[in-house]
Amino acid sequence: MLRRLHKEQPASFAFTPANQQWAEAQITKYPEGRQASAIIPLLWRAQEQEGWLTRPAIEHVAEMLGLAYIRALEVATFYFMFQLQPVGSVAHIQICGTTSCMICGAEDLVAVCRDKIAKSAHEISADGKLSWEEVECLGACSNAPMAQIGKDYYEDLTVDRFSEMLDQFRAGEVPVPGPQNGRFTSEPLGGATALTDTADSGDHAQNASVTLATSIRDTIKRIDGTEVPLRTPWQQAEQADEDPEVAARDPMMPPAGPDGKQAGRVRDQEDAPRDRGDASDGVANVRGSDATAKGKPDEGSVVDDPEGTPAKGIGAGAVSGGDTAPVAESSDATAASTTTTAAPASASTVDVGTKPAGLDAPREGGADDLKAIRGIGPKLEKLCNSMGFYHFEQIANWTDTEIAWVDSNLEGFKGRVTRDEWVKQAKVLSDGGETAFSSRVKKGDVY
Ligand code: FES
Repeated sequence: MLRRLHKEQPASFAFTPANQQWAEAQITKYPEGRQASAIIPLLWRAQEQEGWLTRPAIEHVAEMLGLAYIRALEVATFYFMFQLQPVGSVAHIQICGTTSCMICGAEDLVAVCRDKIAKSAHEISADGKLSWEEVECLGACSNAPMAQIGKDYYEDLTVDRFSEMLDQFRAGEVPVPGPQNGRFTSEPLGGATALTDTADSGDHAQNASVTLATSIRDTIKRIDGTEVPLRTPWQQAEQADEDPEVAARDPMMPPAGPDGKQAGRVRDQEDAPRDRGDASDGVANVRGSDATAKGKPDEGSVVDDPEGTPAKGIGAGAVSGGDTAPVAESSDATAASTTTTAAPASASTVDVGTKPAGLDAPREGGADDLKAIRGIGPKLEKLCNSMGFYHFEQIANWTDTEIAWVDSNLEGFKGRVTRDEWVKQAKVLSDGGETAFSSRVKKGDVY
């Protein structure tokens, strides 16, 4: 296909101040004399800002890098990641039409595009929101057929799912990227049959690129500030806990697998054993819905392995807690008007580690917003408060055995303290600093 500049071009281009600053910072990454190497990230940023790559944008980038226009034009016209004509205001869909995808149904997906977007490739839909094209192999052949949308891959597509996704984009929602049939990555459809003990699902409900995509939340974001709400996996998990029915309708949830379960949901993973030996029935680390079916440890039981070895992170001989947990002295707590007391015990308390000291109320000035810690949402904040934890400083001072106790007693969220590094984040926040996540919370970027 000929890749030429569009016949209608705007008169000029300028990066927004934030993008200009970002672009200048990118250039400094390259050694003296090699600044031209920044061309792809700069062109990509220009495209993200405008939606497509205009001639003035290409010229602007060339000038920034001290390049002849033709050199920048060569790059822009070579890679089909760069859109040389206006695209849909919400999303431009790139359907892979190469061998694997073609055999597995890419032509049917193209038919959906013709039906629901526009008759021809690069034509914008009547509502202005979507456009599409067919592209060459995108390197996800084992998850054919697939499409790239913005920065993300949507794999294992069917006509029905793809059609539904287009509706979601139109409605301002962003479907979770990755396999759309419940697969974790590209394992056999029937589940992994080898390397099951080194399965890399680890602490994540979704594979690494999907986890990153849902964390960064810029699948189809325009860098000029327009952003489509995308909630993090842990926020999805909390919603699933609070209202499974709402969660089941949540377009941000991974799609249901063949068994009707939403494979790979964080909530499922949280209930699953975290690594080999944690499962009460001895089943090794498994993924998604399988994890729920096979590996759920007994609620309220001591999280030990089948041989009776204490769970990870718990010091030898540190098993205590419950009502007998020692009451730690906290200098801040002593200074405050509130009293420090052992966290309230409950019948379901897990007897692992050492229960940290809790407060019976927040100190003067009120509780900290624990939701500024990545991994703590409204439900977990409430749970922490009910245990007597109101302040960053309290969490920052937890010892390993105290972390073990809290991790074991977060009903439905076991292991969150360690997984999301609450203590590390709390230390920064209690010192008056900010983490990348807390900054986003402050800006209102986290819902
Ligand atoms: Fe479609 Fe390779 S053939 S991704």
